[in-house]
Amino acid sequence: MNALAVARSPDEGLSVDGVAVHFGGLVAISDMTFKTSGSEIVSLIGPNGAGKTTAFNVITGFQRPTQGAVSYRGTPLVGLKPHQVAALGLVRTFQRTSVFATNTVLDNLKIGLHRQSRTGLLTALLALPSERASEARLIAEAWEILEFVGIADRAHQIAGTLPYGEQRLLGVALALAGRPSMLLLDEPVSGMNPTETANFLRLLRALRAKDIAILLVEHDVPMVMEISDRIVVLNYGRIIAEGSPAEIQSNPEVIAAYLGQGATLA
Ligand SMILES: Nc1ncnc2c1ncn2[C@@H]1O[C@H](COP(=O)(O)OP(=O)(O)OP(=O)(O)O)[C@@H](O)[C@H]1O
Ligand SMILES: [Mg+2]
Repeated sequence: MNALAVARSPDEGLSVDGVAVHFGGLVAISDMTFKTSGSEIVSLIGPNGAGKTTAFNVITGFQRPTQGAVSYRGTPLVGLKPHQVAALGLVRTFQRTSVFATNTVLDNLKIGLHRQSRTGLLTALLALPSERASEARLIAEAWEILEFVGIADRAHQIAGTLPYGEQRLLGVALALAGRPSMLLLDEPVSGMNPTETANFLRLLRALRAKDIAILLVEHDVPMVMEISDRIVVLNYGRIIAEGSPAEIQSNPEVIAAYLGQGATLA
């Protein structure tokens, strides 16, 4: 699948090194250090306010850290703007849906693809023969992505009228339009029903099969345990544990942070 093909060197991933984020007197993140490699699925979990979204903001250029460094495949990211980070292959979705609600699903994708193609929308509108050809390619790519995430049958529907779960899938489709080598998903299944969540798990596996790495923030613990290769646990802005799902599930500090002493994370 050309639209989703990415070239990646297997061992170079994301590196977060000693990152701190202070908002005035509030320490949102302190001394955060972790690495990802290859196309693994790494989940960042922790209670509300633990600093997960802030970590995403730092990685993707929306928030400058107070301290520390972030790099992707050896390129330093601190100081880059969000679109520059995205151009390096790190593309995020947002905790709240961020689709163009009054446009059709297909137009959402076309806008997303135009944003990252060299051909601007205006050039495309002038419709020189070469641009018409690239417009046709872009539409083909849009369909390919919609089919991949499973909402091609909604292509001509107004995005804002889609059921919630499908709006989230459109959010992922828009992120894929940025041709990521790593996708950062902030609570992608929140508000989804069990069927939608199960479908989303299949989509995550399909992304991994395409060699797209995933950094996942999610409160749905059973889902995280099922899909993750590795889990990083944050509490009050600090990493309190890191390991395989089995290791995390039996870690007393993690259980205490989440559910109180004596509870399980099954
Ligand atoms: N722009 C900001 N200005 C001030 N404080 C902020 C800002 N963004 C986040 N915070 C604070 O930083 C802390 C971490 O917030 P963050 O949104 O990263 O948590 P989270 O782990 O994503 O939580 P949730 O699970 O509820 O989404 C919280 O105390 C939050 O109130
Ligand atoms: Mg959050």
